[in-house]
Amino acid sequence: MMLSFEEMVRYGQDEDIMVENILEVTNRKVVNILENITDGYFALDRSWRFTYLNKASEKIFFNSRENLLGRIIWEVIPEHINQAFFELYSKAITEQKPVYFEMQICPEGDWVEVHAYPTEDGLSVYFRDITQRKQIEVALRRSEERSARLLKEITRLERLQLIEKMAGCISHEIRNPLTTVRGFLQLLSKNVEFVRYQEYFDLMIEELDRANAIITEYLSLSNNNSVELKLLNLNQIIEKLLPLIQADALMTDKYIELELQEVPDLLLNKSEIHQLLLNLVRNGLEAMFTGGCLTIKTYTEGEDVVLAVKDQGQGMPPSVLEKIGTLFFSTKDNGTGLGLPICYSIARRHNASITIETSAQGTIVFVKFKQQAVDN
Ligand SMILES: Nc1ncnc2c1ncn2[C@@H]1O[C@H](COP(=O)(O)OP(=O)(O)O)[C@@H](O)[C@H]1O
Ligand SMILES: [Mg+2]
Repeated sequence: MMLSFEEMVRYGQDEDIMVENILEVTNRKVVNILENITDGYFALDRSWRFTYLNKASEKIFFNSRENLLGRIIWEVIPEHINQAFFELYSKAITEQKPVYFEMQICPEGDWVEVHAYPTEDGLSVYFRDITQRKQIEVALRRSEERSARLLKEITRLERLQLIEKMAGCISHEIRNPLTTVRGFLQLLSKNVEFVRYQEYFDLMIEELDRANAIITEYLSLSNNNSVELKLLNLNQIIEKLLPLIQADALMTDKYIELELQEVPDLLLNKSEIHQLLLNLVRNGLEAMFTGGCLTIKTYTEGEDVVLAVKDQGQGMPPSVLEKIGTLFFSTKDNGTGLGLPICYSIARRHNASITIETSAQGTIVFVKFKQQAVDN
């Protein structure tokens, strides 16, 4: 069919009107959808002014749409200029690429997930409240961290218990023959025939004594749970031990300071606490240069009584910290790596816990004793 010129114009106009109508209906539908979704949506022009905001987006700006329309976003939330999301929005516009990020509206506030899409006129921003998801994520992460910590602690305790058992068996087996050898060496050294070897005998006996001393230390790991505990005061034990500790320190030109607060009596085994203190103090002294000061503190913290040994050494790198308490682990040329495992073992028998804080300024070892209810 041939159309006249007039008919063709009219037909074209009808089509334009129809398309316009369809577009308007679609537009209304889209706006309707945006108005009714619970997620936020807003649009900005190229000069960062709001050209549209849906109802849900009022929440994020703590303001009504009427107040926001036509205003520049950075005047509404000036605190966000120069922050990560200002840069991301700018990037979306300059590079004409969509960006995605998650942000907290304000410290301790709700979390939102944001998608920003560059448009011909500016930027379209769509965001969703993900506070609940974030809270679950945080709870999950915390619980995972806690499980990992517990698992590590259980493994360490299991290892320690095994070592304690082994210590008991092996040490006796080695100690007995050593004693026999030492006895014969002493006997032979008195023999006139060997008088010219006296120096060698002395050296051999000395070495056996050194081996024996290490075994004695190692044996203290095999103490089982049956150590005798008495109601004693931590401060008194420390004060009594002070001359010995001070002599140790002065030998290498270091100093000891006491900061003892009044603490209640605890159920303690005196000789084990001696050993615990000496091991911690020696580690502290060995970690410091000449002139360094080591502080021994006692204080109460809630229900706990705390013994803290603080040094001015170099601290420990994470690689050392994670191995601490492992039997025979030592970074020292002449270290035995028995000091801290013994401390952990003693702490366990006293129902105490050991925590370590370390930095380049030094290390603090905290031993926390639970106050026990004692029947008189
Ligand atoms: N106060 C401390 N400062 C720095 N490092 C320490 C401290 N205490 C312990 N360490 C580290 O832990 C390791 C193990 O200590 P320990 O079990 O007492 O064995 P040892 O003292 O025989 O090396 C040490 O070799 C050292 O690397
Ligand atoms: Mg040590």
